Amino acid sequence: MSNFLDDKIAERLGGSSFGKSTAIYKFELIKRAKAAAKKAHPEIDLIDMGVGEPDWPADELVVRTLAEEAGKPENRWYADNGIPEFQEAAAKYLEKVYGLTGINPWEHIVHGIGSKPVLAMLPLCFINPGDYLLTTVPGYPVTATYTRYLGGEVFNLPLLESNSFFPDFSIVPLNILKKAKLLYMNYPNNPTGAVATPEFFDNVVEFANRNNIVVIHDAPYAALTYDGYKPLSFLSARGAMDVGIEVHSLSKAFNMTGWRIGFVCGNSKAIKAYATVKDNTDSGQFRAIQKAAIRALQHTEITDRTVEKYSRRFNMLVSALNELGFNATKPKGSFFCYVKAPTGTGSGKEFSSAQEFSEYLITESQISTVPWDDAGKFIRFSVTFEADSPEEEKKVIDEMKKRISRLKLKF
Ligand SMILES: Cc1ncc(COP(=O)(O)O)c(C=O)c1O
Repeated sequence: MSNFLDDKIAERLGGSSFGKSTAIYKFELIKRAKAAAKKAHPEIDLIDMGVGEPDWPADELVVRTLAEEAGKPENRWYADNGIPEFQEAAAKYLEKVYGLTGINPWEHIVHGIGSKPVLAMLPLCFINPGDYLLTTVPGYPVTATYTRYLGGEVFNLPLLESNSFFPDFSIVPLNILKKAKLLYMNYPNNPTGAVATPEFFDNVVEFANRNNIVVIHDAPYAALTYDGYKPLSFLSARGAMDVGIEVHSLSKAFNMTGWRIGFVCGNSKAIKAYATVKDNTDSGQFRAIQKAAIRALQHTEITDRTVEKYSRRFNMLVSALNELGFNATKPKGSFFCYVKAPTGTGSGKEFSSAQEFSEYLITESQISTVPWDDAGKFIRFSVTFEADSPEEEKKVIDEMKKRISRLKLKF
């Protein structure tokens, strides 16, 4: 049936073909497979290792602060690009956790309603039609999507195990390098769990300077690190503040995904451009949420407790996965364990992609994961599964192991 809007949707969304595609996206497929598995076996608990959100709620202290601040008349106004107290708290946090000094909160920091809208707005600051974004894949796609919306082009930098999940800049053809304006990267990385090194960040600064490219470092997992690896900011590399910006979020480090609060820090001109786009897009996060977020930033022991929990879960998960035949190593950051997908099962089932294995695992074992087929066939297990105590965590992992062992996976 025709619709008045059929010829009015913008080309960037597919124009007159919008809504007619039968392609189903990965996350929708997972959602459907989960729903079908629950319906087929309502008696079996689904083990959800696919989620990319913390299982804990925000800390009580932070919740209490929001409750206190929410009703105060002075917090009712549009916050616009402020509030200054939040910028100041963010600067102090960056110094405490990442050792960053010399940050001017008013010049170098502006908040965001989570990092997702920040990543959407940054291409609006830089991309003209025909400009290139270099982006690591697999990864969070928002910056690439907006680049395409704006008539820009995207060049993918695959994150391969053979290169420790770092991008290989030497693969960018010269004609693309000349048109490249932005580089998007993310460490600790979703989904590979890889962490950056100071040498890698130094190389990125050198690459950016040599090729005139602005760097966007997406760092929502930067404070979630394990086993002696210390949180590392791209901005701690010499010259990074000149060539780039870093996007921080309270979503993961402070268990505040639904609260929508983060910030961007870096080159003052980039921050000014972001603030200009932001000013024309939103009117700022609720001041009471910003004030609760300040409280969080002042209490980094909240992150420490979360790190302790994820670290304990990783130890159990990695040893279970290895016993099942996967080749798992505990990541030094993020909350993701990224392993090669099996090729088949003992009963002769073959998997031609990670997607196929992931769907099979939901249907046969009621275990949800996220598949990645962008650079090899990999499965992402997340340690954010629901469990109220260390004993409960062990039960979940034991149950997962029991269910997967029945499949007799082949690698
Ligand atoms: C790499 C990466 N960047 C950004 C985000 C968005 O986080 P936020 O909640 O701050 O918008 C996510 C969320 O999963 C992510 O994994």
